[in-house]
Amino acid sequence: MTQARPAIAVAGLRKRYGTGETAMDALKGVDLTVQPGEVIGLIGPSGSGKSTLLKCLGAVTEPSAGRIDLDGETVYENGWRNRDPRALRRDRIGFVFQAPYLIPFLDVTDNVALPLLLAGWSKREARQRARELLTALDVAQRAHVAITQLSGGEQQRVAIARALANQPPIILADEPTAPLDSERALAVVRILNRMAQQYRTAIIVVTHDEKIIPTFKRLYHIRDGRTYEDAGAGRELD
Ligand SMILES: Nc1ncnc2c1ncn2[C@@H]1O[C@H](COP(=O)(O)OP(=O)(O)OP(=O)(O)O)[C@@H](O)[C@H]1O
Ligand SMILES: [Mg+2]
Repeated sequence: MTQARPAIAVAGLRKRYGTGETAMDALKGVDLTVQPGEVIGLIGPSGSGKSTLLKCLGAVTEPSAGRIDLDGETVYENGWRNRDPRALRRDRIGFVFQAPYLIPFLDVTDNVALPLLLAGWSKREARQRARELLTALDVAQRAHVAITQLSGGEQQRVAIARALANQPPIILADEPTAPLDSERALAVVRILNRMAQQYRTAIIVVTHDEKIIPTFKRLYHIRDGRTYEDAGAGRELD
């Protein structure tokens, strides 16, 4: 694995919600790196700042201080470098949430094709790419059914296909296996690992899920707004 240019490099990241008496420091100096093709776990108690960190990385929330480099480019350094941080999210980042947030009145294929249509692909090309991804995620046989007819695990795989559609170099997944049983949860993790290898995607998985924690080669703990890398993670792997 190349160590040359991390896909994600975070240094001294801080996030304060509110001001004055009600101010709340959710992130107090987070350091973290993820290489292309790497899937890392991020675990910590409720309220420790996991979702806040993902939201900062995804330009959903503006950090208060520190630095974020994506793919070797500084995108935040005590302020967004780009006037349109939302473009970052569109072009570089796929999100997978705990609830899949699929669009119920579109079928499976069109849910996955949607981000491509929004990016200007033709309908035919977008559907073609959607079908390839659905095949990779073992849900191609469900390509034309309504979202409401899918199981929880199938919905989550469709959501992963959608997050991968425009080949973002980064995927941020917030509790992606929470609604799944252990077999399905492990299947989702295997798929994320395979996608990371195949597309060189850098993936951060926030989780409480004890079943999947041992699958991460690298694991960060977050506690009280600070990250700590787990030196023992991944020992039982390889
Ligand atoms: N929009 C907000 N305004 C004010 N405080 C917030 C806001 N969002 C989060 N917080 C606070 O920041 C802290 C970190 O929240 P965050 O959602 O990042 O935690 P988390 O680790 O994702 O927790 P969980 O495991 O419960 O999802 C919490 O104390 C939370 O109450
Ligand atoms: Mg959260």
